[in-house]
Parts: sequence; C-alpha cells; structure tokens
Amino acid sequence: MLYDETLADREYWSWFTGEEFKTGPGKNDIGDEVRTELESFVDPGKVMNIMCGKYGLIKSHLGLDVSPHMLRKNKDLTRRVVCDLNADTSYPIRNEEFDTAVIINGIAYLRNPTHAFKEIARTLKLGGVLVVGFDHNQTRKGQKEWGCLNENDKLVKLQDLYSQAGFGPQIIKKFKVHWGFPNHDIRLENTFYLVKAEKSPASHVL
Ligand SMILES: C[S@@+](CC[C@H](N)C(=O)[O-])C[C@H]1O[C@@H](n2cnc3c(N)ncnc32)[C@H](O)[C@@H]1O
Repeated sequence: MLYDETLADREYWSWFTGEEFKTGPGKNDIGDEVRTELESFVDPGKVMNIMCGKYGLIKSHLGLDVSPHMLRKNKDLTRRVVCDLNADTSYPIRNEEFDTAVIINGIAYLRNPTHAFKEIARTLKLGGVLVVGFDHNQTRKGQKEWGCLNENDKLVKLQDLYSQAGFGPQIIKKFKVHWGFPNHDIRLENTFYLVKAEKSPASHVL
C-alpha cells in the first residue's frame, strides 16, 4: 500500500518519486529558498549529503539515501551510495573524509540520531561542519519523538546531539519558506531552521 508507514524504510521510500519534496516559490515546494540560504550559510568544501533525496540542495561529492530511485535522479551528486541509515551500524564512509555534512529534512526519520551524529562526526575532518535543516515537513514515517517536539525543543535536542557527538557550539539561521498549491491559490509559510556546528578537537579520530 502506498506510503504505508509500517513498511521497512527501503520499501516505504521507494514509493516516492521525489516530486513530494520539490517545491520552490510559486510552486508547491521550498527547495529554491533552502538552497539559497544554504549557499550563504556554509563554505562547503567536500560535501556529504545525508538523506539527500532527489533534489540536490547543494553540490555534493557523495549522496546517501535509502531510495535508489531518488538517488539516481539527483543531479547534484558525484557519487551515490544506497544506504539504510537506520540499519547500517557503521556508515560506508572512511574516517575524516568530508569538510561538510548536510541533513535537510532527514533528522525526523533517524531512529537513532545519537548514533548517526557520532558516525557523521567520524567521517568529518577536524573543523568540519555538520548542517541540519528542518521545518515541520514530515511524513508519517517520521519518528514521533522528533515530530512531537516544538521548535525550541528541537533546537535543544539538536544541541544535545551535537555535543554528545563532540561538536562545538551551534550557529542557527531561521527564515521563512513558502509553499502551496498555486493552481488552487493556496500559499503557506513555514519557519525553516538551518543549524551548524564544527567538529571539535575532542572528537578528533586518532
Ligand atoms: C523528506 S525527504 C528529504 C529529502 C532531501 N534532503 C530534501 O530536503 O529535499 C527524506 C529523505 O530521507 C530518506 N530516508 C528516509 N529514511 C532513510 C533511511 N533509513 N536511510 C537513508 N535515507 C533515508 C528518504 O529516502 C528521503 O529521500
């Protein structure tokens, strides 16, 4: 059944075409607005795009996603790895390979974000940056623990996750994104957060 949240991640996400997340001003999507903000928020270097889906919001050397279909269609990736981040205990990436890791609207789907943040820290160079982006956009497959937090609690939760994985202080960018169904003259506004923090020497992999 389409979008049956009891399906395993791989089956569930392979039903999506990617169009669900493609929006942008005047369309039903927020992608263009997030891309613009992201460009001025990071100095990317070598980028790993986690749970990247079909639409590249940033040029990335590596995209990781559970959906081969969406991964194949993402034109902003140099390399693609199909990977279930909720199943793989160790991500298939070398230590200290990347300058930047981004997760945009993916954190809600991580069953064990503490483990994920530690794995991401392992793959970042010292001083590398993890960027997490989110709004209230979440399908029913998202974890209730994340979905039921308010905006402030989400930022507090992120602070915990960053510090447990050995990242330094966070920098937060808050802005409005617009989406809707122009054919029906429905336009909506959401608050979007981009949060980043640097891998600090304490978490440096020796
Ligand atoms: C809401 S979409 C966000 C896509 C993209 N980052 C964006 O902002 O347009 C969530 C993405 O997470 C991926 N995903 C969900 N569960 C996953 C898992 N267990 N492992 C890897 N990717 C997963 C989905 O395939 C989907 O591409």
